Parts: sequence; C-alpha cells; structure tokens
Amino acid sequence: MQSLCFMKNRIKSVISRGNENAKIMLIGEAPGKLENETGKPFVGKSGQQLNDLLSKVGFNPEQDIYFCNVVKCRPVKNNKDRKPQKQEIESCVKYLNAQIEVVKPEIIILCGNTAKRLFKINEPMKTVHGSCIDYNKIKLVPVYHPRVSITDEVKFNDLKKVKKLGGN
Ligand code: URA
Repeated sequence: MQSLCFMKNRIKSVISRGNENAKIMLIGEAPGKLENETGKPFVGKSGQQLNDLLSKVGFNPEQDIYFCNVVKCRPVKNNKDRKPQKQEIESCVKYLNAQIEVVKPEIIILCGNTAKRLFKINEPMKTVHGSCIDYNKIKLVPVYHPRVSITDEVKFNDLKKVKKLGGN
C-alpha cells in the first residue's frame, strides 16, 4: 500500500493533549511544525493564542479540555504547513471517531473549517460560529480557527458561549 503523503514528513503522530475525562473536546485541523516535533496538538503559535483565550474565558485548558485534530500527521508542502487532503482526512477519521468514543465529550468545539466540514456543517463559518448544533446528543460549537484574522473579541465571545453551555 502506498503511504500517504503526509506520513513522509512525520516526526511524531500527534494524538492529543489535555484531559481525556474532560466534558469538552476541541478538534483542530492538523499538526504544525512544533506539534510534529513534540507530538502534542496546539503547542505552536495557534495553540498559544487559543490557550490565552480559553484562560481568559475562565477555562483551565489542560484540565477542562481534550485537544486533538482531524488529521494526526503534519501536512507539508515546500517545508510549509498546508491544508490536509481529502484522502489524508479519510485515513484519520477512524482515529478521531475512536477518540470521541473514549472521551465521550458533551461538547465538541470544531475549531476551523476542516473540523466543521467533517461534521457536515456546510454553512459558512461567518453564519454558524458560536452556535450550538446537536449531533447524537453532543453539542457541536463551530469556532474560527486561531489562524483566521478576525478580532479576538469574536473568538472570545464564541468560547464564552461554550462556557455558558455548561461544559464546566
Ligand atoms: N496546531 C494544531 O494542533 N492544530 C491546528 O489546527 C493548528 C495548530
């Protein structure tokens, strides 16, 4: 079997960080450079931004959230991060489903379009961010990815809504 493109650049598979007993799971897109080196999701620039916002909202990120990604290896082109391809997403879905089975989150924060689309939410982020969508008794909340240039106020308010949903 031909190995998938993103596996060639893999240093570490990136599975999760945080608390696997948390009520809240956050699903991002894909590991970046630092995540590939450390094996931990959201430890680079985007992760720092996210951690800051989550803390401002009143979460203890490491305690209250289980962080993971749609794909488990870093997609790279010319030494830079790129969007994961359909085939890469499809090859990782089974791992994400297993993570949802084990963690049994009450709330899933869909961080960015890749995670949002995976759950068949096809409306644009500008119309669905911060809303709560039922999915097999799990509350899905799509939010902008930290990389998206939109004000911190918008990102903060979306995470505040997660807090109000009673995740913690
Ligand atoms: N780091 C991650 O682990 N996921 C992202 O989506 C972005 C950065």
